[in-house]
Amino acid sequence: DQHANAHTFIGAIDQGTTSSRFLIFNSLGEVVVTHQLEFKQIYPQSGWHEHDPNDLVNSVTTCIDGAIEAFERQGHSAKDIKAVGITNQRETTLVWDVRTGEPLYNAIVWTDMRSAELVRNLKKRLGASEINQLCGLPLSTYPSGAKLLWLLENVPKVKEAYEQGNLAFGTVDTWLVYKLNGGARANVFVTDPSNASRTLFMNISSLTYDEQLLDFLRIDRKKIHLPEIVQSSHATAYGSLAVSKLRGTPITGCLGDQSAALVGQKGFTPGLAKNTYGTGCFLLYNCGPKPVISKHGLLTTVAFDFGPGKRMYALEGSIAVAGSSVKFLVDNLGFIKSSSAISALAETVEDNGGVCFVTAFSGLFAPYWVDDARGTIFGITAYTQRGHIARATLEATCFQTKAILDAMEKDSGHKLTELRVDGGMCNSDLTMQIQSDLIGIPVNRPAMRETTALGAAIAAGLAVGVWDSFDDVKNVNTEGSTIFKPLVHEKESAVQFARWEKAVQMSKGWLA
Ligand code: G3P
Repeated sequence: DQHANAHTFIGAIDQGTTSSRFLIFNSLGEVVVTHQLEFKQIYPQSGWHEHDPNDLVNSVTTCIDGAIEAFERQGHSAKDIKAVGITNQRETTLVWDVRTGEPLYNAIVWTDMRSAELVRNLKKRLGASEINQLCGLPLSTYPSGAKLLWLLENVPKVKEAYEQGNLAFGTVDTWLVYKLNGGARANVFVTDPSNASRTLFMNISSLTYDEQLLDFLRIDRKKIHLPEIVQSSHATAYGSLAVSKLRGTPITGCLGDQSAALVGQKGFTPGLAKNTYGTGCFLLYNCGPKPVISKHGLLTTVAFDFGPGKRMYALEGSIAVAGSSVKFLVDNLGFIKSSSAISALAETVEDNGGVCFVTAFSGLFAPYWVDDARGTIFGITAYTQRGHIARATLEATCFQTKAILDAMEKDSGHKLTELRVDGGMCNSDLTMQIQSDLIGIPVNRPAMRETTALGAAIAAGLAVGVWDSFDDVKNVNTEGSTIFKPLVHEKESAVQFARWEKAVQMSKGWLA
């Protein structure tokens, strides 16, 4: 029986915004080995954010090789890894030449704001009001579509490839699968619905490219190569690795990182939700087998597509800046030496001392969607210490989570009874306590927090029979979670939240 077989392993590639990782799980869902590598962040000008496409691939293969070496030192063999799952930063946009597989520009990262003006014009186009219904996304700088339009308008090489029918578009999953399979030679050119639902190109109900959406964006389907949309868990569609020490191993799972975290938290059934405090922070609420279009500023996204009867949608609250605000205190302001020191600094003071920090470095995402907001700190006096600013930084993500939960309650008519959390910032007990106080429900943090990678491993494992069903994975990673219960009175948190909402209003229109 391979279910109980301790020698069956699954690999998970997690290509995130600031680092790449490779983890190996056993069939009990325990982490056996991990290897992580940060790569270069490119900020050519204010509001722009890029990655070198080759860095993304090379950092992944370096992580695989590093992890396999450690795995072999433990007495295992690379052959014991049955399959690999991929999970990735979403929306980040890549373009390459189909003939060579060579990138035509740097990857434009999901946080990038250069398409702001272009998006303002899109909003004025006939048909703009129907877009959200069709694809579940707002017209904003966030989805890949806005970034691709910018490339077509501003980079002659990209426009030329498009006119000649040689332009390939892909999100990070597509790029990695393509390159890891050997690039143009193998030409494995696919994506999964959780990633495709972030582009602006896919119809959220049919999970196919939508002519009305492409027409609206004035993208000619005949001139551009878009990846085939296949199930998130598939035995053959994603090919197999042609590079690294895992050459020959099939890739059988693919999920955007936030979907993967929902799967890793086993949010398989409607009504379950998770919040991942990564570079950004993303709350996904499983809303069932049919898409629910939000009326309150949330996105509709594919949670996962594991085949007939096993496809779920999610309502998503996306916060652009979370862990990156802590990194900002480290790298730009020099407040602390590393992100993990933030709690200690915030604990040097008793409260925020009246300081409120709207961390709108990339405008504000859900539920506000304001492209022209900018990071603003309010309430500074001669009394203000670094600790107050540190605390206000942590609170900013918690306030936005509260705003998202309020919107979710209105859209779904359902009040959450518990919030499952993961991601770097959730390691801070102080932050999780603040979170629980603000939303007035318990926050549940698992002991093993590699839920994003676990989700990719589950997607891959389901395709090759390591697990047969959701029921089979239900008991993976259930031990030892910490529950943070609300400790402050509702009235007190309402006062704090009202102050935050006022600050949000005042941070708008900075560019106007
Ligand atoms: O939508 C962007 C998201 O997928 C990035 O996730 O974990 O890098 O903040 P993360």
